[in-house]
Amino acid sequence: MSTVLFRDISIIYGTYPAGIEFLRGWEANSLPSLVNHSILTEDGIITAFIPEKEIVVHQDWEVVSLKNKTVIPGFTECHTHAVFAGDRSDEFLMKLRGATYEEIAERGGGIVSTMKKVRDASEEDLLALLLPRIQTFIEQGVTTLEIKSGYGLNTQDELKMLRTIKRASKLVPVDIIPTFLGAHTLPPEHREDRNKYIDKICNEMLPSVADEQLARFCDGFLEKSTFQPDEIERIFETAAKYDLSLRLHTDQFHSIGGLELGLKMNCRSVDHLEVISQEQTKLFKDSPTAAVLLPGVSYFLNYNYAPARDLIDSDAIIALATDYNPGSSHIDNIFLIMSLAAVKMKLSINEIMNSYSINSAYVCGVSSRTGSLTTGKQADFAVIENENLNQIVYNTGKNPVVITVKKGEIIYQQNYSL
Ligand code: NIG
Ligand code: FE
Repeated sequence: MSTVLFRDISIIYGTYPAGIEFLRGWEANSLPSLVNHSILTEDGIITAFIPEKEIVVHQDWEVVSLKNKTVIPGFTECHTHAVFAGDRSDEFLMKLRGATYEEIAERGGGIVSTMKKVRDASEEDLLALLLPRIQTFIEQGVTTLEIKSGYGLNTQDELKMLRTIKRASKLVPVDIIPTFLGAHTLPPEHREDRNKYIDKICNEMLPSVADEQLARFCDGFLEKSTFQPDEIERIFETAAKYDLSLRLHTDQFHSIGGLELGLKMNCRSVDHLEVISQEQTKLFKDSPTAAVLLPGVSYFLNYNYAPARDLIDSDAIIALATDYNPGSSHIDNIFLIMSLAAVKMKLSINEIMNSYSINSAYVCGVSSRTGSLTTGKQADFAVIENENLNQIVYNTGKNPVVITVKKGEIIYQQNYSL
């Protein structure tokens, strides 16, 4: 058994009691902490928080001094499209000159332009692109990372993306949560026969994904220009038969019943929600479905932010994420997302921290194991410079992380940190 004692910590944030797997509404506005305690771990699990004055070091223990720095729960980044090839900077310029995301997609750009690049890439090419992107998240204290497919849009290339994610998950020290997003948009070859593509998802892709155990979640993009509620319902009913949990991109540009379908189908989360009304936020009361907010998309596309405060007033479980992708949020900086959440969504720093740890871990279905610093959970945490967490949003986009620890092991350490 390997026992590690992390000591000399000024303050440990996110020390929830066991049994808490998410925080609803205003509950997320507090963040418990412990001052002058050390963290004892055994085989990667937190076994005790010991007051610094009472520590008696056992000879078998490895002792790591954190030099009076601050410890926070490892972040769960719960929504990314981190497997992609090429870039869409040309489209970004078109958007700056006034074109909308949907207009660009109608002209054959958007998701389909990344699809072409991904289809042309080999699994090795995609893996080589993905690994440094995962490292960027690790260096920001991310200990659980969700990654979606959705740029293959045929059986062979969707499986290629998911196999890339699976290979990466064996090479990196963090937990990777794979999500199948075959219903991202209609590929051009199926423009005229939508049902055939949906049949392909249900009869070819989902059985193969389940057979090779390539995904934990099935996601879809419900929007005027992509998939309609009845189409997503059919895909999700099939996915549920294969034991995949459900998530949904919805109400990004138009409210056409997606949120209501996501709640009815007990999705683990509904993501985006930039255009929902105050009335619609009330639907989250008592719902197990979390609202994943993506302020990077609103910034990058320069339009509405989801009504975060109304969602909190309606007692929703809210989480935050980058939506890192080449088209609508080419942002891999989680601290910039946090600043946008503070400035544009009026979230408090405690709400932001909880939305990026316990609640985003809940979205990924892993909050019984990670997302807070709790005895019995994994020792997944980040060591940061700042004692006052408000500095995170004040120091816009600056990475405060000096060490990342996953299951009791240091997996990243800034060169000049300790
Ligand atoms: O989450 N909304 C749809 N899908 C992505 C965008 C992907 C892309 O544009 O490549 C999103 O915003
Ligand atoms: Fe997305």
